[in-house]
Amino acid sequence: MKLITAIIRETQLDQVRQALIDAEITRITVSRTSGHGQQIREEIYRGKKVIPNLIPKIKIEIAVNDEFVDTTVKAIINEAKTGEVGDGKIFIQPLEECIRIRTGEKGGTAI
Ligand SMILES: Nc1ncnc2c1ncn2[C@@H]1O[C@H](COP(=O)(O)OP(=O)(O)OP(=O)(O)O)[C@@H](O)[C@H]1O
Ligand SMILES: [Mg+2]
Repeated sequence: MKLITAIIRETQLDQVRQALIDAEITRITVSRTSGHGQQIREEIYRGKKVIPNLIPKIKIEIAVNDEFVDTTVKAIINEAKTGEVGDGKIFIQPLEECIRIRTGEKGGTAI
């Protein structure tokens, strides 16, 4: 199992969700978040250098069985990419366990 975390633009969320649903990836957690990537614009406030503002983004988390990783990643990239800086990033981590609270099922069948 893998945990896929994607940081994307707010404007791309609906079409990313639609593409995931079309690919039968329907289990998803979405949060509002903020951050910055490699472009740090130097900002001066009242003559002093200040750390740059955080840019609002959307965080998507999807736990999947290994065979769904490629489909998930492709759907996200297809719909999140504009080609401009700030399109976001995808992180993939090993997922040790998953438990469905209602039934107590564990692992791949619980996901
Ligand atoms: N290495 C990282 N660790 C944690 N969060 C990150 C990292 N890189 C990007 N992010 C998050 O993703 C958001 C979008 O990043 P962004 O697409 O600007 O990355 P980038 O490396 O600057 O690439 P680009 O040059 O295409 O803009 C950031 O605002 C931040 O929230
Ligand atoms: Mg950037």
